[in-house]
Amino acid sequence: PFPWFEKMRKTSPVTYDEHRSSWDLFRYDDIVAILKDPVTFSSVRPTAGPVLLGSIIGMDPPKHHQMRNIVSKAFTPKAISELEPRIAEVVHELVNPLKTKQQMDLIHDISYPLPVIVIAELLGVPPEDRQLFKDWSDVIVKMPEDSTENEVQSFFRERQKTRQELDDYFMKVVTERRKNPREDLISRLVHAEVDGQHLTDHEIMEFCILLLAAGNETTTNLISNAIRKFIEEPHLQEQLRQQPELMEKAIEEILRYYSPVLATNRVVTKDTEIGGKQIKKGDQVIAWIASANRDENKFPVADQFKVDRTPNQHLAFGNGAHFCLGAPLARLEARVALPIILSSFHNMEFPEGTELTPIPSTFVYGVKALPVQYNPAT
Ligand code: HEM
Repeated sequence: PFPWFEKMRKTSPVTYDEHRSSWDLFRYDDIVAILKDPVTFSSVRPTAGPVLLGSIIGMDPPKHHQMRNIVSKAFTPKAISELEPRIAEVVHELVNPLKTKQQMDLIHDISYPLPVIVIAELLGVPPEDRQLFKDWSDVIVKMPEDSTENEVQSFFRERQKTRQELDDYFMKVVTERRKNPREDLISRLVHAEVDGQHLTDHEIMEFCILLLAAGNETTTNLISNAIRKFIEEPHLQEQLRQQPELMEKAIEEILRYYSPVLATNRVVTKDTEIGGKQIKKGDQVIAWIASANRDENKFPVADQFKVDRTPNQHLAFGNGAHFCLGAPLARLEARVALPIILSSFHNMEFPEGTELTPIPSTFVYGVKALPVQYNPAT
């Protein structure tokens, strides 16, 4: 998508798309402006789909503010940072069996299972329900295989069914945790309180499902997009092994350069103007955050990957009121996983003839599979 973004930033940065009846925004400053104005640009949008509708990502102030404050009490940076040793353990469990091989699919073997396991443990899903949980996660991130009516219908049926199963499952867990609290996120959500306000069972369930939908595929893509870049520019592998202190900046640069989320959208609540264009109440706006992240006016040599880029105020996690709540978790998983991968597998490269297939989605950016050939570290 990047050549298209560049062309649009230069020629038509605020564009009406007749086909989708929506405005496309490509420039950094325009996108920050709409994300910072949730009153004019509403997140209550018809396109959120059954998975996200009803969760905080689809709410506006003041309700959004209220709910976000309460869930933040349970989903704290401290609770996240405490996961570090366990994340390292999970990464080692995934990496170890690969050390006797010379080729893997990094996504299937590492970057897909990791966030699913971490979220399941954080929520307190017992090990015997892991497979169930993984199957649900698969359905949530799936797109229709093609656009035939049959496929689209069966896709929506499957999604609806999964949504129902998730609702039932989490409702049961929430009820159980109210009776017998444990050391897990769901128990903390049950007790989280701001000014005497608690979450209802239904709100907790919505939030749990949002974590699955918003956190898994995005983190998978962050890790696999990073390894993809380290293979495209192989000197980065040795450089990051030699200078591990660069890793945090490298992760921010990956988030900017290969943003796992391409875009987010809003609905306009009153007539307004962006970049000299008149926008009408009711119009939809698509903010191409991956384009903002390549905007030359914000990032010098934006199309170059600079491992230690500073400053790096990318929009990969959004901006303003809806700024990604899971950013500390995504960053932590990458910060733990990438050094272990780099130290376990040397000379990573694509097997001859590899052609990467992009995920068929307008909103997420990554590849379907990432075949990697390597020398196991001795
Ligand atoms: C919101 C990106 C990982 C939970 C967002 C938004 C973006 C984003 C762009 C804002 C959407 C908007 O303004 O409409 C990402 C990326 C990730 C990632 C790129 C990984 C690299 C996670 C993880 C979790 C998570 C791991 C949780 C486990 C959320 C939640 C929101 C959100 C709850 C909604 C916040 C709100 O509406 O107030 N994310 N995300 N995300 N993300 Fe993430």
